[in-house]
Amino acid sequence: MRLKEIQHIFHKELDAIYDTNEVDSFFLLLIEAYYKISRLQMAMDPNIALEDDGKMVSALDALKNEVPIQYIIGETVFFGLPFKVDENVLIPRPETEELVDWIIKKTTVPNPTILDIGTGSGCIAVTLAKKMPEAKVFALDVSKEALEVATENAILNETTVDFLKADILDSNTWSTDFKKLKFDVVVSNPPYVREQEKARMKSNVVDNEPHLALFVSDENPLQFYKAITNFSTTNLKVGGRLFFEINEYLGNDMIQLLKAHNFVNIELKQDIFKRDRMIKGQIQK
Ligand SMILES: C[S@@+](CC[C@H](N)C(=O)[O-])C[C@H]1O[C@@H](n2cnc3c(N)ncnc32)[C@H](O)[C@@H]1O
Repeated sequence: MRLKEIQHIFHKELDAIYDTNEVDSFFLLLIEAYYKISRLQMAMDPNIALEDDGKMVSALDALKNEVPIQYIIGETVFFGLPFKVDENVLIPRPETEELVDWIIKKTTVPNPTILDIGTGSGCIAVTLAKKMPEAKVFALDVSKEALEVATENAILNETTVDFLKADILDSNTWSTDFKKLKFDVVVSNPPYVREQEKARMKSNVVDNEPHLALFVSDENPLQFYKAITNFSTTNLKVGGRLFFEINEYLGNDMIQLLKAHNFVNIELKQDIFKRDRMIKGQIQK
Protein backbone atom coordinates (compact mmCIF):
# COMPACT_ATOMS: atom_id res chain seq x y z
CA MET A 1 0.00 0.00 0.00
CA ARG A 2 1.18 3.56 -0.66
CA LEU A 3 2.12 5.83 2.23
CA LYS A 4 -0.57 8.38 1.54
CA GLU A 5 -3.23 5.65 1.55
CA ILE A 6 -2.02 4.39 4.92
CA GLN A 7 -1.98 7.94 6.26
CA HIS A 8 -5.57 8.35 5.07
CA ILE A 9 -6.60 5.18 6.94
CA PHE A 10 -4.83 6.45 10.09
CA HIS A 11 -6.91 9.64 9.97
CA LYS A 12 -10.12 7.76 9.24
CA GLU A 13 -9.59 5.42 12.19
CA LEU A 14 -7.93 7.72 14.71
CA ASP A 15 -9.21 11.29 14.25
CA ALA A 16 -12.12 10.53 16.59
CA ILE A 17 -9.68 9.61 19.38
CA TYR A 18 -6.74 11.99 18.86
CA ASP A 19 -6.11 15.48 17.55
CA THR A 20 -5.48 15.34 13.80
CA ASN A 21 -1.95 16.80 14.14
CA GLU A 22 -1.16 14.12 16.71
CA VAL A 23 -2.28 11.44 14.24
CA ASP A 24 0.10 12.89 11.63
CA SER A 25 2.86 12.91 14.20
CA PHE A 26 2.22 9.22 15.11
CA PHE A 27 2.21 8.27 11.43
CA LEU A 28 5.50 10.07 10.74
CA LEU A 29 7.18 8.63 13.85
CA LEU A 30 6.11 5.13 12.82
CA ILE A 31 7.34 5.28 9.21
CA GLU A 32 10.63 6.71 10.44
CA ALA A 33 11.02 4.01 13.15
CA TYR A 34 9.88 1.04 11.04
CA TYR A 35 10.95 1.92 7.50
CA LYS A 36 13.53 4.70 8.01
CA ILE A 37 11.42 7.00 5.84
CA SER A 38 11.88 10.63 6.92
CA ARG A 39 9.19 13.34 7.01
CA LEU A 40 10.97 15.02 4.13
CA GLN A 41 10.86 11.86 1.99
CA MET A 42 7.17 11.48 2.83
CA ALA A 43 6.49 15.11 1.87
CA MET A 44 8.41 14.74 -1.40
CA ASP A 45 6.94 11.37 -2.39
CA PRO A 46 3.75 10.33 -0.57
CA ASN A 47 3.29 7.61 -3.19
CA ILE A 48 6.16 5.47 -1.88
CA ALA A 49 4.78 1.93 -1.61
CA LEU A 50 5.45 -0.25 1.43
CA GLU A 51 6.03 -3.89 0.53
CA ASP A 52 5.01 -5.05 3.97
CA ASP A 53 2.65 -2.76 5.87
CA GLY A 54 1.88 -5.30 8.63
CA LYS A 55 3.69 -3.28 11.28
CA MET A 56 1.64 -0.19 10.43
CA VAL A 57 -1.57 -2.23 10.76
CA SER A 58 -0.51 -3.53 14.20
CA ALA A 59 0.50 -0.02 15.30
CA LEU A 60 -2.87 1.32 14.18
CA ASP A 61 -4.63 -1.30 16.29
CA ALA A 62 -2.51 -0.42 19.32
CA LEU A 63 -3.18 3.30 18.84
CA LYS A 64 -6.92 2.58 18.66
CA ASN A 65 -6.48 0.97 22.09
CA GLU A 66 -4.64 4.10 23.26
CA VAL A 67 -1.32 2.34 23.79
CA PRO A 68 1.28 5.13 24.12
CA ILE A 69 3.28 5.65 20.93
CA GLN A 70 6.54 5.25 22.90
CA TYR A 71 5.61 1.65 23.82
CA ILE A 72 4.56 0.91 20.24
CA ILE A 73 7.86 2.14 18.82
CA GLY A 74 9.76 0.83 21.85
CA GLU A 75 11.83 3.96 22.16
CA THR A 76 11.67 7.56 23.34
CA VAL A 77 13.96 10.55 23.75
CA PHE A 78 14.94 11.90 27.18
CA PHE A 79 17.30 14.85 27.61
CA GLY A 80 18.19 14.46 23.92
CA LEU A 81 19.25 10.83 24.43
CA PRO A 82 17.57 7.66 23.10
CA PHE A 83 15.90 5.33 25.63
CA LYS A 84 14.28 1.96 25.05
CA VAL A 85 10.95 1.59 26.83
CA ASP A 86 8.47 -1.23 27.29
CA GLU A 87 5.46 -1.91 29.48
CA ASN A 88 7.73 -2.66 32.47
CA VAL A 89 8.97 0.90 32.75
CA LEU A 90 7.40 4.30 33.09
CA ILE A 91 7.72 6.47 29.99
CA PRO A 92 10.18 9.22 31.02
CA ARG A 93 8.45 12.59 31.51
CA PRO A 94 9.60 16.12 30.63
CA GLU A 95 9.45 17.23 34.30
CA THR A 96 12.04 14.55 35.09
CA GLU A 97 14.32 16.19 32.52
CA GLU A 98 14.01 19.39 34.59
CA LEU A 99 15.00 17.44 37.72
CA VAL A 100 18.08 16.02 35.96
CA ASP A 101 19.03 19.47 34.73
CA TRP A 102 18.78 20.81 38.31
CA ILE A 103 21.04 18.03 39.64
CA ILE A 104 23.67 18.66 36.95
CA LYS A 105 23.71 22.38 37.78
CA LYS A 106 23.90 21.86 41.56
CA THR A 107 26.48 19.04 41.63
CA THR A 108 29.86 20.73 41.68
CA VAL A 109 31.90 18.29 43.80
CA PRO A 110 34.61 16.48 41.81
CA ASN A 111 33.97 12.81 40.94
CA PRO A 112 30.55 12.64 42.62
CA THR A 113 29.00 9.35 43.68
CA ILE A 114 25.31 9.27 42.76
CA LEU A 115 22.44 6.91 43.54
CA ASP A 116 19.13 6.85 41.63
CA ILE A 117 16.37 5.03 43.54
CA GLY A 118 13.54 3.51 41.45
CA THR A 119 15.45 3.86 38.20
CA GLY A 120 12.82 2.40 35.83
CA SER A 121 14.10 2.93 32.28
CA GLY A 122 17.31 4.30 33.80
CA CYS A 123 16.56 7.72 32.34
CA ILE A 124 17.89 9.67 35.36
CA ALA A 125 20.92 7.47 36.10
CA VAL A 126 22.02 7.02 32.48
CA THR A 127 21.61 10.71 31.66
CA LEU A 128 23.61 11.74 34.73
CA ALA A 129 26.34 9.24 33.84
CA LYS A 130 26.40 10.56 30.27
CA LYS A 131 26.41 14.26 31.17
CA MET A 132 28.77 13.90 34.16
CA PRO A 133 31.33 11.37 32.88
CA GLU A 134 33.45 11.76 36.01
CA ALA A 135 30.55 10.62 38.23
CA LYS A 136 30.18 7.10 39.63
CA VAL A 137 26.50 6.27 39.22
CA PHE A 138 24.49 3.56 40.99
CA ALA A 139 20.83 2.83 40.35
CA LEU A 140 18.37 0.46 41.96
CA ASP A 141 14.89 -0.84 41.32
CA VAL A 142 12.73 -3.57 42.79
CA SER A 143 11.69 -4.68 39.30
CA LYS A 144 14.00 -7.14 37.54
CA GLU A 145 12.31 -6.35 34.22
CA ALA A 146 12.87 -2.60 34.65
CA LEU A 147 16.55 -3.22 35.46
CA GLU A 148 16.91 -5.17 32.21
CA VAL A 149 15.58 -2.19 30.25
CA ALA A 150 17.78 0.22 32.21
CA THR A 151 20.85 -1.93 31.53
CA GLU A 152 20.06 -1.87 27.79
CA ASN A 153 19.78 1.91 27.99
CA ALA A 154 23.15 2.27 29.67
CA ILE A 155 24.68 0.24 26.83
CA LEU A 156 22.72 2.15 24.16
CA ASN A 157 24.09 5.42 25.54
CA GLU A 158 27.61 4.07 26.08
CA THR A 159 27.63 4.79 29.81
CA THR A 160 28.49 2.79 32.90
CA VAL A 161 25.91 2.54 35.67
CA ASP A 162 26.00 0.00 38.53
CA PHE A 163 22.50 -1.47 38.70
CA LEU A 164 21.22 -3.20 41.83
CA LYS A 165 18.02 -5.10 42.49
CA ALA A 166 16.68 -3.99 45.86
CA ASP A 167 13.48 -2.95 47.60
CA ILE A 168 14.04 0.47 49.10
CA LEU A 169 11.25 -0.22 51.60
CA ASP A 170 12.92 -3.37 52.93
CA SER A 171 16.53 -3.15 54.15
CA ASN A 172 16.71 -6.97 54.27
CA THR A 173 17.00 -6.87 50.45
CA TRP A 174 20.07 -4.58 50.55
CA SER A 175 23.50 -6.16 50.22
CA THR A 176 26.12 -5.46 52.89
CA ASP A 177 28.24 -3.64 50.29
CA PHE A 178 25.32 -1.44 49.30
CA LYS A 179 24.56 -0.51 52.91
CA LYS A 180 28.14 0.74 53.30
CA LEU A 181 28.08 3.07 50.27
CA LYS A 182 28.11 6.84 50.82
CA PHE A 183 26.79 9.21 48.17
CA ASP A 184 27.20 12.85 47.20
CA VAL A 185 23.79 12.77 45.57
CA VAL A 186 20.71 10.62 46.11
CA VAL A 187 17.91 11.15 43.61
CA SER A 188 14.52 9.55 43.28
CA ASN A 189 11.35 9.86 41.28
CA PRO A 190 9.47 7.24 43.30
CA PRO A 191 5.85 6.14 42.92
CA TYR A 192 3.73 9.04 44.22
CA VAL A 193 0.27 9.02 42.67
CA ARG A 194 -2.39 8.41 45.30
CA GLU A 195 -5.05 5.82 44.52
CA GLN A 196 -7.64 8.60 44.91
CA GLU A 197 -6.07 10.43 41.92
CA LYS A 198 -6.48 7.43 39.59
CA ALA A 199 -9.96 8.45 38.46
CA ARG A 200 -8.63 11.84 37.25
CA MET A 201 -5.77 10.31 35.27
CA LYS A 202 -5.75 9.69 31.54
CA SER A 203 -6.82 6.15 30.72
CA ASN A 204 -3.84 5.60 28.42
CA VAL A 205 -1.57 6.02 31.46
CA VAL A 206 -3.63 3.93 33.92
CA ASP A 207 -4.24 1.16 31.37
CA ASN A 208 -0.71 0.86 30.03
CA GLU A 209 1.99 2.11 32.38
CA PRO A 210 3.19 -0.12 35.27
CA HIS A 211 1.20 0.45 38.45
CA LEU A 212 4.29 -0.51 40.46
CA ALA A 213 5.89 2.68 39.12
CA LEU A 214 2.92 4.93 39.72
CA PHE A 215 0.72 4.30 42.71
CA VAL A 216 0.89 4.61 46.47
CA SER A 217 -1.86 4.17 49.04
CA ASP A 218 -4.03 7.14 50.03
CA GLU A 219 -3.17 6.43 53.67
CA ASN A 220 0.61 6.66 53.26
CA PRO A 221 1.37 8.78 50.15
CA LEU A 222 4.87 9.68 51.38
CA GLN A 223 5.87 6.07 52.07
CA PHE A 224 8.75 6.12 49.56
CA TYR A 225 9.85 9.65 50.45
CA LYS A 226 10.04 8.75 54.14
CA ALA A 227 12.08 5.61 53.48
CA ILE A 228 14.44 7.35 51.03
CA THR A 229 14.90 10.38 53.31
CA ASN A 230 15.69 8.06 56.18
CA PHE A 231 18.17 6.10 54.05
CA SER A 232 19.79 9.37 52.93
CA THR A 233 20.42 10.60 56.47
CA THR A 234 22.85 7.71 56.90
CA ASN A 235 24.07 7.15 53.33
CA LEU A 236 24.65 10.70 52.10
CA LYS A 237 28.08 12.20 52.74
CA VAL A 238 28.28 15.38 54.82
CA GLY A 239 27.18 18.17 52.47
CA GLY A 240 25.53 15.60 50.17
CA ARG A 241 22.24 16.43 48.48
CA LEU A 242 18.93 14.63 48.19
CA PHE A 243 16.74 15.39 45.16
CA PHE A 244 13.16 14.25 44.64
CA GLU A 245 10.52 14.56 41.98
CA ILE A 246 7.28 15.08 43.92
CA ASN A 247 3.53 15.06 43.69
CA GLU A 248 2.54 18.68 43.08
CA TYR A 249 0.01 18.53 45.94
CA LEU A 250 2.53 17.44 48.56
CA GLY A 251 5.17 20.19 48.43
CA ASN A 252 4.58 21.42 51.99
CA ASP A 253 4.52 17.90 53.43
CA MET A 254 7.83 17.27 51.71
CA ILE A 255 9.38 20.41 53.20
CA GLN A 256 8.25 19.27 56.66
CA LEU A 257 9.65 15.79 56.06
CA LEU A 258 13.10 17.08 55.09
CA LYS A 259 13.12 19.57 57.97
CA ALA A 260 12.23 16.81 60.44
CA HIS A 261 15.30 14.91 59.24
CA ASN A 262 17.53 17.98 59.75
CA PHE A 263 18.13 18.67 56.06
CA VAL A 264 19.22 22.24 55.30
CA ASN A 265 19.10 24.44 52.18
CA ILE A 266 15.71 22.95 51.37
CA GLU A 267 14.34 24.23 48.08
CA LEU A 268 11.01 23.49 46.46
CA LYS A 269 11.09 24.03 42.70
CA GLN A 270 8.35 24.45 40.15
CA ASP A 271 8.34 22.96 36.67
CA ILE A 272 7.74 25.03 33.52
CA PHE A 273 3.99 24.80 34.21
CA LYS A 274 4.47 26.46 37.64
CA ARG A 275 3.65 23.32 39.59
CA ASP A 276 5.67 22.26 42.65
CA ARG A 277 7.40 19.24 41.17
CA MET A 278 10.90 18.98 42.67
CA ILE A 279 12.58 19.40 46.02
CA LYS A 280 16.12 19.22 47.28
CA GLY A 281 17.80 19.27 50.69
CA GLN A 282 21.35 19.00 51.96
CA ILE A 283 22.97 17.14 54.83
CA GLN A 284 24.42 19.73 57.21
CA LYS A 285 28.14 20.41 56.80
C1 LIG B 1 7.83 6.79 39.00
S1 LIG B 1 8.82 5.42 38.46
C2 LIG B 1 10.29 6.32 38.03
C3 LIG B 1 11.09 5.68 36.94
C4 LIG B 1 12.25 6.55 36.43
N1 LIG B 1 13.19 6.85 37.49
C5 LIG B 1 11.72 7.82 35.81
O1 LIG B 1 11.94 8.89 36.42
O2 LIG B 1 11.09 7.77 34.75
C6 LIG B 1 9.20 4.63 39.98
C7 LIG B 1 10.11 3.40 39.93
O3 LIG B 1 10.24 2.90 41.26
C8 LIG B 1 10.29 1.48 41.21
N2 LIG B 1 9.86 0.96 42.50
C9 LIG B 1 8.60 0.74 42.96
N3 LIG B 1 8.62 0.24 44.20
C10 LIG B 1 9.94 0.13 44.55
C11 LIG B 1 10.61 -0.34 45.72
N4 LIG B 1 9.92 -0.78 46.77
N5 LIG B 1 11.96 -0.32 45.74
C12 LIG B 1 12.67 0.12 44.67
N6 LIG B 1 12.08 0.58 43.53
C13 LIG B 1 10.74 0.58 43.48
C14 LIG B 1 9.35 1.12 40.07
O4 LIG B 1 9.64 -0.18 39.57
C15 LIG B 1 9.62 2.25 39.08
O5 LIG B 1 10.62 1.89 38.16
